[in-house]
Formats: sequence, C-alpha cells, structure tokens
Amino acid sequence: MGLVTTKKMFQMAYKNGYAIGAFNVNNMEITQGIIQAIAEEKAPLILQISRGAREYASMSYLKAIIDVAVEENPDIPICMHLDHGDTVEICKRCVDDGFTSVMIDASHHPFEENIKMTRAVVEYAHAHGVVVEAELGQLGGIEEDVVGVDDVSAHLTDPAQAEEFVEKSGCDSLAVAVGTSHGAYKFKSEPKLAFDVIEGIQKRLPGFPLVMHGSSSVLKEFKDLINKYGGKMPDAMGVPEEAITRASKMAICKVNIDTDLRMALTAKIRQVFAEKPGEFDPRKYLGPGRDAIKAMVKHKLTVLRCAGKAAECL
Ligand code: G3H
Ligand code: 13P
Ligand code: ZN
Repeated sequence: MGLVTTKKMFQMAYKNGYAIGAFNVNNMEITQGIIQAIAEEKAPLILQISRGAREYASMSYLKAIIDVAVEENPDIPICMHLDHGDTVEICKRCVDDGFTSVMIDASHHPFEENIKMTRAVVEYAHAHGVVVEAELGQLGGIEEDVVGVDDVSAHLTDPAQAEEFVEKSGCDSLAVAVGTSHGAYKFKSEPKLAFDVIEGIQKRLPGFPLVMHGSSSVLKEFKDLINKYGGKMPDAMGVPEEAITRASKMAICKVNIDTDLRMALTAKIRQVFAEKPGEFDPRKYLGPGRDAIKAMVKHKLTVLRCAGKAAECL
C-alpha cells in the first residue's frame, strides 16, 4: 500500500474519539524516530513537511525517506501532508509531487480571499485525489492578563464563519484557532484553550474534522535537560496533555506536533555533548536523539488515543 489521504483516518478518529498525530519531518533521524514509534504502536500517521523543511532537506530527499517508511510498514496508513502552504501554486506543485494532503494557509488574507484561494486548491487537489486542509482564524494564546480578552477572542475562529467557509471553500478539514500557538512559548501564565469554540464549530459542522496546530506540550523532561545542559528555555510552556486528550475526544481529528520533536532531539544532543565533550561522531548524538523522539512519540500516541488504530484506518 502506498501513501494514503486522511479521509478514512479522520472518519474513524471523529467516530471513535481520537486524533491522528501530525508530526513535522526535517531529516532522516526525526522521520525514523516517528516511524519506529508508530510501527510498534500500530497507529495511523501523518508526516508533514513545511516550507522550511523543503528548503533545508529538499523535497526529493524527504519524499525518498518517506517512501522507504511506507514500503517498510504496509500495515500502517501513512499520509504525506504539506504544512502551511501559503500560495495556490505551492499547493498545486505539492499535489504534483505526490503529497496526499495539502494545507492552504490563507488565514492571513481577508475572509473572501481565503475562500477563493482555498477553493482553487480544492479544485486542483480533488481532481488529483488529494485532500485539503484550510485555516480560519489566527493562532495565538489566550492570556487575560496580557491583552484584553475581547482583542484576543477576535482572532479565534468564529463558528458561524467556519460553517460558511467550509460550505463555500469545499475544504476537507479546517485548522481552527482555539488558543494554541506555534513554538515553545505558548502561554505566559495559565494555559487555556477555547473548548467552547471547538464545541460551537462542532455543532454547526457535525462530523467535520478539525485540526489543532501549535499543539506541542513542551515536555518537562526535555525542557529540564535543555536547561540543565547549557540551554536557556526557562519560560517555555506548551499545551497540557489533558487538554490535547480532551480535544481529541471532540471534533479535533489532527494534532500538529513539531516543537516537542525539536526539543527531544536538542535535549539529547546537549546531554551527550555535556557528558562526553570529546564526542564527535554524529551517530553517537543523533542516535540518542532519535531514540528520544521514538519514546516521546509513543507517549503522544496514548495522549491522542490513536495507538492500535492503524488497522481500522486502512
Ligand atoms: O508550523 C510550523 C512548524 O513548526 C514548521 O516550522 O517552518 O520552521 O519548519 P518550520
Ligand atoms: P508546535 O510548534 O506546537 O509543535 O506546532 C507545530 C505546528 O502546528 C505545525 O504546523
Ligand atoms: Zn502549524
């Protein structure tokens, strides 16, 4: 079996109250760590590639690595997804390059323009059997003590607009702004997600899969290791895992994770360098980094409740 779309995965995730992990890949070690985890846990998987990843590693290398992963794991449904495509052209190119899912992120454009761009991608992608994720609203934290709640709420996805957007654009899934943000500094005080917004959208769009970006948890284990071994991330804070699990039981069918992968790899490399200053064999620090990613992803699959769900998503 080759790469699959997210269609069946999202159907099953919605119906059975779990979410699929969408992990960003930038090199062989990150990809292998993720693949080893999902192969052992028999979980469906989305591997996603950003513009930064394409610029760093090149599409052909990343595609070749993913092709090997797919070939070696015929019992696991794997989707290759474009993360944050910002133009119609790049999305079309990725459809041509063999992606089975693309994201058109036109959320920074006015509502009508976002619909128009998304619609254009949907028409091209669907004609080639590829699914489309779109985005409405703007990611950011909800911090009552930083900005007026009204200001911040204005960036969250509006449920009525979401309904109109999905109807007019024809997208297959929608990334929503519910209080998460990208990176390792998501909240300045108490982490807070707008579950009422998820509920509101779910009511208007029953059965429709939603996506949560910026969903790393900034795990204490790796934050502590980074800070202990010469790093400086004292105020890093992510989305609590209970909140991820709660969202997974709702309409959130795809949960995006990149920062936690970066931190796992960085923590282990820092640890090796600190404990063995003479080490200069990349296999001796990338290897432990890959192992840490594997263990971290295995843990995530239980948080997302998708471990053991590969077969039902085929
Ligand atoms: O959405 C953001 C992801 O973490 C990808 O980040 O563009 O630096 O690869 P990147
Ligand atoms: P994190 O930075 O929380 O890992 O989010 C990644 C993401 O949303 C990629 O699209
Ligand atoms: Zn994102």
